[in-house]
Amino acid sequence: MDTFYITTPIYYPNAPPHIGHAYTTIFADVLARYKRLTGNNVLFLTGNDEHGLKIQKVAEKQGKTPKEFTDEMAELFKKYWLSLDINYDHFIRTTDDYHERTVKEAFNYIYKKGLIYKAKYAGFYCVECEKYYSPEEYVEVDGKPHCPLHNKPLEYMEEETYYFKLSEFEKYLLDVLSNKDIVYPRSYADEVLSKINKEGLRDISIARPVERVWWGIPVPFDEKYVIYVWFDALLNYLSALDYLNNRDKFNKYWSNAHHVIGKDILWFHTVVWFSILRALDIDPPRKVIVHAFLTSKGAKMSKSVGNVVPIEELLSRYGSPDAVRYVLMRIFNMDKDSEFDFELLDNIYNSELADTYGNLVRRAGVLAQKKTDGKIYRRNIDSKIRDELENKLKSYIDAMENYEVSKAASIAIDTARLGNQYLNDTKPWEKKDPSKELYTVLETIRLATILLYPFTPRASDLVAKAFGFTIENPSKGVVESIERYNVLSAPILFKKIMSKK
Ligand code: ME8
Ligand code: MG
Repeated sequence: MDTFYITTPIYYPNAPPHIGHAYTTIFADVLARYKRLTGNNVLFLTGNDEHGLKIQKVAEKQGKTPKEFTDEMAELFKKYWLSLDINYDHFIRTTDDYHERTVKEAFNYIYKKGLIYKAKYAGFYCVECEKYYSPEEYVEVDGKPHCPLHNKPLEYMEEETYYFKLSEFEKYLLDVLSNKDIVYPRSYADEVLSKINKEGLRDISIARPVERVWWGIPVPFDEKYVIYVWFDALLNYLSALDYLNNRDKFNKYWSNAHHVIGKDILWFHTVVWFSILRALDIDPPRKVIVHAFLTSKGAKMSKSVGNVVPIEELLSRYGSPDAVRYVLMRIFNMDKDSEFDFELLDNIYNSELADTYGNLVRRAGVLAQKKTDGKIYRRNIDSKIRDELENKLKSYIDAMENYEVSKAASIAIDTARLGNQYLNDTKPWEKKDPSKELYTVLETIRLATILLYPFTPRASDLVAKAFGFTIENPSKGVVESIERYNVLSAPILFKKIMSKK
């Protein structure tokens, strides 16, 4: 069985997740479910990034220790992911002991190679990003350096620190980023390449003095420092595979590692991450899959800007995790930011889930029970319809293999649309024995249901049970593979909602 390792970023738990985080996590879950369905041995990782100044500060403000605070937040994040049917295999926390050990070992290993040295740092820092900003990167507002993402003044810092020799990896990075097809879509690799070519690479600080930031993993040979939160965080992708203790497991999954990220953390997941890996003598991941932002009034949705839509608001509006997953994936976009708009989502929900798929299931279910008592045996279906179904299946698989989830979801709905059209054309309700027509329309439903499964797992399971089939691997071809349907009920899956602002 092929392995498939897929990860989300590990999120800062300074606040509950919002739909921006859900956007990434649902996407990863859809790919993970698709890969499981098509016969892969999947390991899907998500988790929280718990160290650093940002978390230290929020906990302080709430009068809690960072440990108490992050414990509570980890449970809260898990609850949110459960409410969206996120089926991860492992939830990592950077305070987990196996992770802390991995980070210390990695730091030591790289230090012993002579790629870490002590020197003074002076410059600007954004606590929101947990990132150092160079003069090329920050923007000036009233003559003062500001974070371009958060529009807040940067903190000036001057301190003795440990540096990682990032500059040593310039040639390696240029080679890997131009010659290996790792970053997807490709345009993001070009973006990174042009930044490297324009600005070159400077060594980066990878530690903070404890009197400034104490909430972190200590530098193993110098207790006066904690390891920089990004160095710590990135290594989660290795520690989750039991990198220190189980090299076989590690190798098995790492060889097919897929990182899903938003474009805000592209630099860290290419330049910084690939260099750390190289310093550890580990190959780069197979893919870094990058997506654009969900925006609200043109600005990236973010807690610090204050323009976020809470996950629970979507859940209560659309009534099920399936619907939330589906509508968010229909506006999913890797290249372009998607402006969040309830009216647009309402339309997608109503016309695709309620009017097309839901309606087809209901119509066919009622008809099957009335006309044949629910039992429908295999008939040869019209070759035209069969070809159309085979084509849909093929283009769905193409789309999924290219991570084009929005397109894949549309194709699934188009399949249901074929079923509705076929019903309208053949009018089986007027026939005495419409077995052939019913078998045909149930085949369109079965295919749509399987293709929708990564997006709407609950509805798919429910329809499969109600109509007497199983959600099986579509990649080997499923059309006309079922001997008999047994339609037990005609579920109403998605109730239409009235658009209200
Ligand atoms: O960066 N649109 O965590 P974070 C789309 N801890 N995606 C969004 C989004 C939006 N408006 N807002 C957030 C960190 N995201 C680090 C990561 S990984 C080793 C460490 C998603 O809590 C998107 O995936 O700031 C983005 O990259 C991520 O949340 C940032 O989450
Ligand atoms: Mg962020």
